[in-house]
Amino acid sequence: MPRVKTSLTGIKPTHVPHLGNYLGAIKPALRLAETYRSIYFIADLHALTTIRDPEALRSSVYDVAATWLASGLDPDKTILFKQSDLPEVTELAWVLSCMLATGQLMRGHSYKDALEKEENPNAGIFNYPVLMAADILLYDTHAVPVGKDQKQHLELTRDVAARLNHVFGEDTLVVPEAVISEAPLVLGTDGTKMSKSKGNGIPLFASKKKLRKFVMSIKTGSETLEEKKKAEGTTVYELCSQVSPAHAAEMKEKLAAGNFGWGHAKQILFEALDAELGDKRDGYHALRADEDKLDAVLADGAERARVVAQATMARVRNAVGLRR
Ligand code: TRP
Repeated sequence: MPRVKTSLTGIKPTHVPHLGNYLGAIKPALRLAETYRSIYFIADLHALTTIRDPEALRSSVYDVAATWLASGLDPDKTILFKQSDLPEVTELAWVLSCMLATGQLMRGHSYKDALEKEENPNAGIFNYPVLMAADILLYDTHAVPVGKDQKQHLELTRDVAARLNHVFGEDTLVVPEAVISEAPLVLGTDGTKMSKSKGNGIPLFASKKKLRKFVMSIKTGSETLEEKKKAEGTTVYELCSQVSPAHAAEMKEKLAAGNFGWGHAKQILFEALDAELGDKRDGYHALRADEDKLDAVLADGAERARVVAQATMARVRNAVGLRR
């Protein structure tokens, strides 16, 4: 077992990441590399539970890879790979599924949610937590940083790992810890939580001109220019403080002094965003245009992940009797 603990982050490639994903998920996940041996993977097998368009899936995988790399993921110091490049994960998922009672899967929140929305959700949705457990256990993961919504999946992962170890030998799988942290709430242009489905997102790597347009479309109060304004609690200010505390302090002071309108405040937010994202935007577009390069990074990551995965699978096959 390596001395440094391993953290694992799974990213579902379902859309081009927006500013909310960047501030709420990408930046916090990239900071893990300071304390853990960090592994990041693009969960394309999980995306298959909902995506029916092969081109969209392929393209989404590249969008996500380019976004994370441009945002600062260092593929030399960490591992970035594509889930489906390591088919060992589906083999492990099968073994784990044989250790799990169907009742535990039937109690799964995401399966129950899916049942409420449609009569007959696909079995991928039902089995999703098993594949997720396999993702985690295949790489000897110690820490899985997730939001509250994933807590149940982590409990199932720990349960199934402990059960397999109990039945087949305690040294077979590393039992991981969930590191529960709620992602900071990032507000969208309408002042509610930024989300792809609500159409209130600010695109991360749109051109400067487009970015400005999105920022200018943020809902604000209707005070007059002259009025002194309170910054806290407003979308423009809260977003700004998540992007750049220095810009936010300046905005707050000017709003409080009066004779400073919301349009001016938005200009400060735009400048803060452009300072944060300008170089990354250029990096993103260069990377996204070079799929061969992205393939090479992902292939290299897969190769390094495979070393751990194959060792885990050798232990599992041995333990359960698939190999002498
Ligand atoms: N279920 C996670 C999500 O919806 C994605 C994911 C898949 C994941 N496998 C994982 C996260 C393993 C952490 C570890 O966001």
